[in-house]
Amino acid sequence: MKRQVGAKNKAEVNRPHQSEGDVNFSERRRNWSKDNIDAPSRELLLRDENAFLHQSVSTPCLNTIKGAEGAYIIDGQGRRYLDFHGNNVHHIGYGHPKLKAAITKQMEDLSFAPRRFTCEPAVALAEKLIDISPGDLGKVLFATGGSDAIEMALKVARAKTGRFKTISFWDAFHGAGFGASSVGGEQLFRGQAIGPLLPGTEHVAPFACYRCPYGYEVNAEGEPDLSVCKTTCANMIKYVLEKEGNVAAVIAEPARAVPYNPPKGFWQAIRQACNDAGALLIFDEIPTGLGKTGRMFACDHDDVVPDILVMGKALGGGILPIAATLCHPDLDVLGDYAIGHYTHEKNPVTTRAALTTIEIIEEEGLVENAATVGQYALDRMQDMKSRYDLIGDVRGRGFLLGIDLVKDRVTKEGANDAAEEILYRAFDKGLSFKTTMGNVLTLTPPLITTKEQMDFAMDILEDAIADVSRQSRA
Ligand SMILES: Cc1ncc(COP(=O)(O)O)c(C=O)c1O
Repeated sequence: MKRQVGAKNKAEVNRPHQSEGDVNFSERRRNWSKDNIDAPSRELLLRDENAFLHQSVSTPCLNTIKGAEGAYIIDGQGRRYLDFHGNNVHHIGYGHPKLKAAITKQMEDLSFAPRRFTCEPAVALAEKLIDISPGDLGKVLFATGGSDAIEMALKVARAKTGRFKTISFWDAFHGAGFGASSVGGEQLFRGQAIGPLLPGTEHVAPFACYRCPYGYEVNAEGEPDLSVCKTTCANMIKYVLEKEGNVAAVIAEPARAVPYNPPKGFWQAIRQACNDAGALLIFDEIPTGLGKTGRMFACDHDDVVPDILVMGKALGGGILPIAATLCHPDLDVLGDYAIGHYTHEKNPVTTRAALTTIEIIEEEGLVENAATVGQYALDRMQDMKSRYDLIGDVRGRGFLLGIDLVKDRVTKEGANDAAEEILYRAFDKGLSFKTTMGNVLTLTPPLITTKEQMDFAMDILEDAIADVSRQSRA
C-alpha cells in the first residue's frame, strides 16, 4: 500500500523541543529570506531542499555560500559576514594560505596511507598532540569526525574499566552517532523518533549557574555563592556515581557550549569523585580545544587532567575533517580489537592539515589573542548588560561568549523572540552567529579576530539590542 500524502509519520508527531534557536521554520526567517535571497540562490536552495533529507538546524537551508576567507563568509548574493559561528572549525580563519600550501604539497607527496602503513605526518601529529595536551595523556587515535572520536573514547573506557555505564549532562551535545547521541542530552539528537539508545547512559542536570537547575541564585555579578549552593551540581554527580555503582566514565564538555563556565572547584571535585569511584573522566574538547577559551584547552583553566580528551573541528584547520582521542597510556588495553580503525585513520593529508593548523596557532599567538580580545569583548558585554534590562547575563571565556536575553530579570524567562530578531538584524549588518537554547546569543569568533573586528560585532549587537529594547518598551 502506498503511503498516503499528508499522513503524519512518527517523527512528525513527536516533534522535539528546539535546543538550537534559529530554527528551520519561523515567520522571521521566511521574511528575511523573501527580502534577501536572489533568484539563483533561491534555485540552489530548492535543489538542496529536494535532494537532501530534511533535518533540524540544517535542511532546508537559510542561504547559499560562495566564499569563505579569513574571518568572513560571503553569501550567494555577494554579501560579506563576519563569521562568529563557523561551527567552531575556523580558529585560524578560512583558507589560511600556509595551510592551503601545506595541504597541496602533501597531496603531491603522499595522498593516502592504506591499512598496515604509517606515514610521517600521522606520527608527527600524534606526537605533537601528546606534547601540547595537559598532564600525561600519551596515546592517540584519529577519526574523521568528533562523534566517532567520542565513541572511541567510550569503547576504551568500557574496556579499561570492564564497566559500561556513563554519566553525562542533559543538554550536552557529543555528536550525532548512536553512542554519541546516547551520552548527549539534546532531544534533537535522541528524541522518541530515534528509538532506544545505549543502555546505562545516565544523565544529570549540568552546571548552569545563571539558570541553576537546582534553584540557586547568582549574585549581582552573575557569580554563584558556593558557600550557599555548596556546588550541588558536583555533589549530584558524586551521588549518582555512588548510587549507580560500576560507572565506566563521566563524560562532559569542560566549558559548556551554551556557554557556561564551570563553578570554581567543580572539575577538581569531579576528578576526585571519579578517582574514588574507579570511573574515568572524559573531556569533550571538540569545540573548545586548540585555544577557543583563551587557553590551549578549556580544562587548563581548571587545572584538571582527564583520562581521555577528545578533540576535532578546528583540528583540520577549517578545511579537512579530522578528530582525535587522546588517552592516558594506561588505557592502551585493546590491542587485539579494532577500536576505531577508520578508513582515513592515518591519512597523510588530514594529519598534515592538523599539524600545520597547530603550527599556525602557535606561530600567530592565536590562543593569547583569544584570551585578550575575548576579555575585551566580555567587558563590552558587561557594559551593555549594565544599560539594557533585556540582557540577563553575559558570560564565557576567550572566544566562547554568550549574551543571555530575558523578558524579565527576576523571572529570567528567555527572550527568544528578541534573540531571533537580533540574529536577523545582525545578518543585515554583516555579522553571523547563532542562538542557543532559543535566547542566548552565542558568539564563537575565529581566533584571528582583531579588536577592530570585535568592535564592529559589538557595535552591531549593541545597536540591535538597543532597538529591540526600545520596541519592547513602546
Ligand atoms: C561538544 C561537541 N562534541 C561533539 C561534536 C560532534 O562533532 P562532529 O560533528 O565532528 O561529529 C560537536 C559538534 O558540534 C560538539 O560541539
